[in-house]
Amino acid sequence: MYHPASGWLLDEHLVRGLLPPRPLNSHKGLFGSVGILGGAAGMTGAALLAGRAALHVGAGRVYLGLLDDDAPAVDPLQPELMLRPAGHLLDAPHLNVLVAGPGLGRSAAAVGYLQHVLAADAPLVLDADALNLIAASDALKARIAQRKAPTLMTPHPAEAARLVGASIGDVLCQRVEIASLIAVRFNAFVALKGVGTVCAMPNATWFINASGNPGLASPGTGDVLAGILGALLAQGLSPRDALLLGVYLHGAAADRLRERGIGPVGMTASEVIGAARDLLNEW
Ligand code: APR
Ligand code: MG
Repeated sequence: MYHPASGWLLDEHLVRGLLPPRPLNSHKGLFGSVGILGGAAGMTGAALLAGRAALHVGAGRVYLGLLDDDAPAVDPLQPELMLRPAGHLLDAPHLNVLVAGPGLGRSAAAVGYLQHVLAADAPLVLDADALNLIAASDALKARIAQRKAPTLMTPHPAEAARLVGASIGDVLCQRVEIASLIAVRFNAFVALKGVGTVCAMPNATWFINASGNPGLASPGTGDVLAGILGALLAQGLSPRDALLLGVYLHGAAADRLRERGIGPVGMTASEVIGAARDLLNEW
């Protein structure tokens, strides 16, 4: 078993002020372009949630590359998002950050797009089925370790178990060790999600998140975290700072909602997005 180095509690004082204030002469080009790959048939909503989260956490532009051939051309509730077929997204060299996974599915087409994304020279967030496809392929695993640009990985316990070939029970009993193992093995910045999400860095340091509550146990909240991380990277945060701020902010948004009586029962991923935006503007 891998023995990780030192760890800390991830609380508000660690993340406040990480996102610099916006200059008066700001323009959207300063805040980066995020491309999100996902949204296969029946799972378009996952990509839309990640996209809406990226927009509300301040990305300059957000593009979605959707695998579903019948996906809508626009999100009527969020027309600021730019929806494209998945293949067109990958032709866009101006993207500063890529997020792959929300609603990606496990088709042969998904594997092909994922290979392209892994080869891109841009910070990359890997979530959900991107992680499951990587877990099933030694070739894809090797590509991650070879990447020059930073890689963030956001597995829930079942995804982490597949990545390292352990049981879910083992992951739950050894969360710090498994998160650190993934971080070191893939040279990645890892959030092993769940109560007290473990953030593990490739240098084997780790943090346990103090924010969040059972309101987050609802569909799509993981997609929202992936979008938040993409937006923070696009605004120039280092992968370490983006991971710490994003994970803490996501949980704190849920805590704010609970204080207002919006949850834990019935809290939705869409509500978490709005609360994250509000908090970020207060910090
Ligand atoms: N306390 C605190 N945080 C929690 C709790 C809890 N009790 N329950 C869940 N969370 C947080 C997790 O830490 C994580 O940030 O909510 C988020 C849930 O993320 P996911 O497990 O990825 O859930 P979801 O977004 O619904 O995933 C959508 O993608 O990963 C696949 O298999 C997954 O099909 C599903 C899809
Ligand atoms: Mg998920």
